[in-house]
Amino acid sequence: MSIKAVVFDAYGTLFDVYSVGELAEFFFPGHGTALSQIWRDKQIEYTRLITQSDPHNPEGSKYYLPFEEITRRALRYAAKRLSLVLTSEQEAKLMEVYNHLVPFPENLSVLKTLKEKKIHTAILSNGSREMLDKVVKAAGFDAYLDAVLTIEPVKLFKTAPETYSLALKQFSYPKEQILFVSSNGWDALGATWFGFKTCWVNRYQMPLEEIGEPPSKVGSQLTDILELLD
Ligand code: LAC
Repeated sequence: MSIKAVVFDAYGTLFDVYSVGELAEFFFPGHGTALSQIWRDKQIEYTRLITQSDPHNPEGSKYYLPFEEITRRALRYAAKRLSLVLTSEQEAKLMEVYNHLVPFPENLSVLKTLKEKKIHTAILSNGSREMLDKVVKAAGFDAYLDAVLTIEPVKLFKTAPETYSLALKQFSYPKEQILFVSSNGWDALGATWFGFKTCWVNRYQMPLEEIGEPPSKVGSQLTDILELLD
């Protein structure tokens, strides 16, 4: 069955979350890489904690906080963990970087190709509406995306099935005709379990997850998804 829509994860897949490292290094010489890694890991850990601790609530997790707030709290945690004194000015500047994270270089041309092929495109992200809109616009991706979907309406984070379902509400195609693309191995696995066709863009040569089924394709950059299209 041919692919009718391609749905992308945002952070790590279209936008380089580690591009915050440069400013972090400027503020805290010698700690930029560690800060950006602990920041990202803690951010994802908080999304899972919130989702898993109240997974069956029809209104979403009662512990829900917007991703922007989670990102801020994760930054504070990361600084404390490294015994760094983070001023409110530094915090604001590092958070601001999230609004214009560097997109991976091949992404724009892939989005353009998908448009030419008349394949629908969307982002499906844990990100808050405002932060997603800003980063998408800054990268110039808005003209090539049919939708930017946030998990905000379900107040659960990926990999809860309710989040992947949002793509089915947007595009009424069978799951097998939707290709979900993520550079996060765990997100690619969650989407595979959900039933989408999946491509894991393994940008950092990480090993495949040791549980679950492999994604439909493993690539190393976004252009590799084009091989899955007719
Ligand atoms: C997102 C994070 C998980 O964009 O990368 O959903």
